[in-house]
Amino acid sequence: MRILIIGGGGREHAIAWCLAKSPQKPTLFVAPGNPGTHELATNITLNAQNSAGVVSFVKDNKIDLVIIGPEQPLVDGLADFLRKNEISVVGPSAMAARLEGSKSFAKAFMARHGIPTAAFKTFRQDESREALRFVREQGAPIVVKASGLAAGKGAIVCLTLSEAELAIEQLMVGQTLGDAASEVVVESFMTGEEVSVFVLTDGLDYVTLAPAQDHKRIGEGDTGPNTGGMGAYAPAPAYTPQIEQEVRRRIIEPTLAGMKGEGHPFQGILYVGLMLTPTGPSVVEFNCRLGDPETQVVLPLMKEDAVDVFRAMAEGGIEKLSLEKVHESSACVVMASAGYPGAYQKGRPITGLDVSSDPSVMVFHAGTIENDIGEIETNGGRVLAVSATSATLKGALDLAYDRVARISFEGSQYRRDIGQKGLGLALDINTSVSSNPAIRQK
Ligand code: GLY
Repeated sequence: MRILIIGGGGREHAIAWCLAKSPQKPTLFVAPGNPGTHELATNITLNAQNSAGVVSFVKDNKIDLVIIGPEQPLVDGLADFLRKNEISVVGPSAMAARLEGSKSFAKAFMARHGIPTAAFKTFRQDESREALRFVREQGAPIVVKASGLAAGKGAIVCLTLSEAELAIEQLMVGQTLGDAASEVVVESFMTGEEVSVFVLTDGLDYVTLAPAQDHKRIGEGDTGPNTGGMGAYAPAPAYTPQIEQEVRRRIIEPTLAGMKGEGHPFQGILYVGLMLTPTGPSVVEFNCRLGDPETQVVLPLMKEDAVDVFRAMAEGGIEKLSLEKVHESSACVVMASAGYPGAYQKGRPITGLDVSSDPSVMVFHAGTIENDIGEIETNGGRVLAVSATSATLKGALDLAYDRVARISFEGSQYRRDIGQKGLGLALDINTSVSSNPAIRQK
């Protein structure tokens, strides 16, 4: 089995690591990969925007399965192009990936299908006056979102009216995010615990992975600007079995059935970003891929053969998988460069990566690079993520932080409160298969 993974972050390192553990011993290629994936796979230079080039590589190298990690190539239609060329691929079509690529589409879709989400109104970029009038009527707190892909910078939570006015000025008049804000969604502010749920589907049936909680802000106590994610843990005990049932019935199943009913069945990984509000679970956002850093905690908890799981998403057979109930916990702590999520320096040597460690602890590379003399240096904002698995969340956090303390690079920063919300709460999460007749209906 020969598998190509598209992407080069911590998520793709975790996918490669999980596949490398398979008894089927797949041969792995990662494009572009990173020094971490280099240990497990052949890193290759391949432009994901050049679909024809990806197909040539796949054919020349007899690749059996392609897994597309990041959102941009999915939104651009890479999965469609591969399928047209009869290549097995994990990832939705461009039309289905609009659930992430266009917040305006996603919100209208949810409204059409009665899927719970925050009340909203959408504006074109030339409607800044109308948007300003709307936020003044609604008052703060309020959320202003660029509709298109914006590398995690598109959602602005405004606690005051002047912050909301500034966000509208920046996105709609200053066009700071360019075309990503050609439409802007203004939505009401929700309170509660956030949980990320990953739905793996072949377009007919689905399974869910252990629910995870990300830590999006840079600062402890969820303060400071948003980042790509500073750490995660799973399972998130706030996602109780009762909430899980409600999310399946009111969100996951209507979403899959709705996409199918509209002629664009979702096949691949649907990331359901939830807010567990006092009135019930509500969708914050959909994404069309695995999350980063959530992947670094959900995949280590998956006991099944990852080759079979990814293959089933591409080729069918999800109904034959029965993911085991999760009895352990996993935690991951992201180490980032000084200044991140703002400007940061690259090229800082990293030490402590080679300390031999417990097999239940993994260092997943993201913004790293090997220099001319074979040393690993920083090369990005989020540099790496240390993940650990243990019988308890406390045990996983202790292992992860112990390993973090042995790794150093100039100016490294990480949050010391990852997983605190999850400590002390009950753990009883089921990840069973659900065969949903509504989705199966043609
Ligand atoms: N952790 C957030 C994301 O992957 O979008």
